[in-house]
Amino acid sequence: MSRTESFSGEVLRVVRGDRSGVAIAVAIHSTARGPAIGGCRIKAYPSWRAGVDDALRLSAAMTTKCALAGLPYGGGKTVAALPAEGIDPARRPGLIADIAEAIAALGGRYRTGPDIGSTSEDMADIHRLAHGWAFCRPENQGGSGTSSAATARGVLAALQAGVAPGPVAGLRVGVIGFGSVGRLICEALIERGAEVVVTDVEDGLRPVAERLGASWTTADLVREPLDVLVPAATGGLLTVESAAACGASLIVGPANNQIVAEEVATVLRDRGIAWIPDVVASAGGIIHAVGREELGMSEQTANAKIDAIGDTANSVLSLARERGLTTARAARELAALV
Ligand SMILES: NC(=O)c1ccc[n+]([C@@H]2O[C@H](COP(=O)([O-])OP(=O)(O)OC[C@H]3O[C@@H](n4cnc5c(N)ncnc54)[C@H](O)[C@@H]3O)[C@@H](O)[C@H]2O)c1
Repeated sequence: MSRTESFSGEVLRVVRGDRSGVAIAVAIHSTARGPAIGGCRIKAYPSWRAGVDDALRLSAAMTTKCALAGLPYGGGKTVAALPAEGIDPARRPGLIADIAEAIAALGGRYRTGPDIGSTSEDMADIHRLAHGWAFCRPENQGGSGTSSAATARGVLAALQAGVAPGPVAGLRVGVIGFGSVGRLICEALIERGAEVVVTDVEDGLRPVAERLGASWTTADLVREPLDVLVPAATGGLLTVESAAACGASLIVGPANNQIVAEEVATVLRDRGIAWIPDVVASAGGIIHAVGREELGMSEQTANAKIDAIGDTANSVLSLARERGLTTARAARELAALV
């Protein structure tokens, strides 16, 4: 017997942008703790409905992320679902205006920030057009700037917790995705004496990675023997099949929605692979953005709160171990307690 899936969010607004013709979904999952926050993703999807599904999934994850980070906010997300061929650059300003209009219509109940396909400069435009509801404008325009360094800092705190009490030096770490966050993570790990191997679909990044001291591979790092695997590309990396073949002892990284389904977390638990959920590990950027721009935190206070992601990671791993839970379930249980 099939069951009707109920809508667990608060608002789902889907519009076809007047200027761009692009389907834009703004999802508010929860405002129980405070206004909803979550990035603005602009990317190609196989259909606009796939973009809506992504907005719903990502907004729910943001609710858990905010709760685990102890932030007085709920989860939301914007997805602009581009056609497979992308968008003509000449039409992009119209798309940003369409996105701003969709966000402004929610009157501050949802605030956005950069995500895949959007930048700090886009946030400056959205901030201007949507009456202020955007984080991470460039610092010279009054914002807290890019969140990549803060996100990388949080991942490193979680990674350190995952390998404790041992040092990072000497560990073999595989990083998938040498983008703005992945690059900073590589740099820090190499500085701390880890052996870092990197892969990215953009082969042109290879010389940059090698100059840092990382080795480059085109192999599937999920299947390689590693101490730590860092997913720092797009989501959906871990399926039941890839989890069953995974060669790492610890998985921790910034990519959102790393597992495609709940059962993947069970496979990882049963294989003794510690997975620190992305809702824990990737919170550094959002902590920094709202901390600096809305909560009156100094840089030092925001950094201390980001470093505390290590304590949250510890709590999730301990709760999962003690009660035989998956770390996904442990994170959700912990989120309900904070
Ligand atoms: N930037 C932040 O502050 C932040 C905060 C929270 C979460 N995240 C998440 O972390 C991840 C990385 O963010 P970013 O800002 O570094 O993004 P980015 O776009 O700068 O980098 C992503 C990199 O991954 C590569 N890539 C894409 N698909 C790949 C694949 N299949 N295999 C290997 N490489 C692939 C891209 O070529 C790119 O170099 C994203 O999933 C993002 O949503 C980022």
